[in-house]
Amino acid sequence: MAVKTRNIFTCQQCGMQSPKWLGKCPDCGQWNSLVEETIEVGRKGQPIAAASGSRPTRLAEVTVSEEDRQRCGIGELDRVLGGGVVPGSLLLIGGDPGIGKSTLLLQAADCWGRSGTVLYATAEESARQVKLRAERLGVKGSDLYLLAENSLEAIIEHARQLQPGYLVVDSIQTVFTAALESAPGSVSQVRECAGRLMQIAKGEGIPTFLIGHVTKDGAIAGPRMLEHMVDTVLYFEGDAGHPYRILRAVKNRFGSTNEIGVFEMKDAGLSEVPNPSELFLAERPRDEAGSVVVPAMEGTRPILIELQALVSGAAFGNPRRTAIGIDPHRVSLLVAVLEKKVGYTMLSQDIFLNVAGGARLNEPAVDLGVIAALASSHLNRSVPQRTVLFGEVGLAGEVRAVSRPELRIKEAARLGFDRCLLPVNNLKALERPAGMEMIGVRTAQEALEILFG
Ligand code: TYD
Ligand code: MG
Repeated sequence: MAVKTRNIFTCQQCGMQSPKWLGKCPDCGQWNSLVEETIEVGRKGQPIAAASGSRPTRLAEVTVSEEDRQRCGIGELDRVLGGGVVPGSLLLIGGDPGIGKSTLLLQAADCWGRSGTVLYATAEESARQVKLRAERLGVKGSDLYLLAENSLEAIIEHARQLQPGYLVVDSIQTVFTAALESAPGSVSQVRECAGRLMQIAKGEGIPTFLIGHVTKDGAIAGPRMLEHMVDTVLYFEGDAGHPYRILRAVKNRFGSTNEIGVFEMKDAGLSEVPNPSELFLAERPRDEAGSVVVPAMEGTRPILIELQALVSGAAFGNPRRTAIGIDPHRVSLLVAVLEKKVGYTMLSQDIFLNVAGGARLNEPAVDLGVIAALASSHLNRSVPQRTVLFGEVGLAGEVRAVSRPELRIKEAARLGFDRCLLPVNNLKALERPAGMEMIGVRTAQEALEILFG
């Protein structure tokens, strides 16, 4: 029987659908984002399939075991996934073009290929291009199958036949289904393809990785609902000017979203960075005003990161406030604390704050470090080379306790730091690592007095 179709306008930003064209999407407010698409109209009143075999089960009778997770052997990737890949999960890896998504998954596919079959469907590159890259990466993987194909139906058909242990689709924006007339990469195509791949993942129990491109404003191109459909969303990010790449989980149904994996892009592909602190401190200037090291937590792992501040007289007009790698509002707040509680005059100053190495900090425990970096640049006096500091700073200038102080201090001691300024409330319950002087502070002012006299 002929399938009925209907034309509908879909917002390419948020997926809102409207029977009429509109200049501005009423849902997300994006201008000129509605595109006409043809959709199939299902017949109403079809019975719900009750024969799917599902039945309610007592929670106590559901068995799970940690062994179900499959580790790939790339430790940084496994950790971000929460200890390995859960069978039947659908994962999305997003990132800017050229950041290394295909490289990462090809290397992972090589590891998986040692214990099972992997189907790597590439809709962007030819099998020869992938082979050339694989040679450069030293990927041999005898059970790694390449499929240069952009038809979703063909990919699904091959996956059904091959029954691989893993399926990779590179990328979700370039595969398309013949069931829809709209162009590859449009909202309805992306949604439909992801939905069909989800059926494969869940139905056949094949963990499926989708690669997705990210638009300029950071959203994964296509509908936000793609992020809702998948089990895990990983972002692969990094600065084009740095070889470091950070893999971050922004959603994970099977693990924490606090973990990051750090990689370095080399000639022969991505290599893991097991000691990111060393990497982030490698280019630290010596005894330079404005540079401070803070022990930040990334998930369960402490990482020492350098903060750099530059405070200088504004030439004219409004002073500039720029923060890279850290929330600018938080920085403005801390500048206000310095003004009001410590008595520095910074109103007319240009203020720049940068997190070195392209890292990103979003925990309040680095507040004290920000204050010290700003003060150091303002006074033009350096913070002693082997001093670290952490603590949350409140609006009254008080220094508040933060989580995991012992891990932060241990990491600092491991990298040769010998003095740490920390919230006095954290100090109480701590044991002191050998060779580490620990000073508890109550207020930001007290910390600055200890640092600069
Ligand atoms: P790629 O994985 O193709 O990025 P994506 O799939 O995210 O678009 O990575 C491409 C970039 O990585 C390219 O700019 C070159 C660099 N690269 C290396 O530096 N070394 C390597 O071994 C490989 C394979 C790529
Ligand atoms: Mg690619």
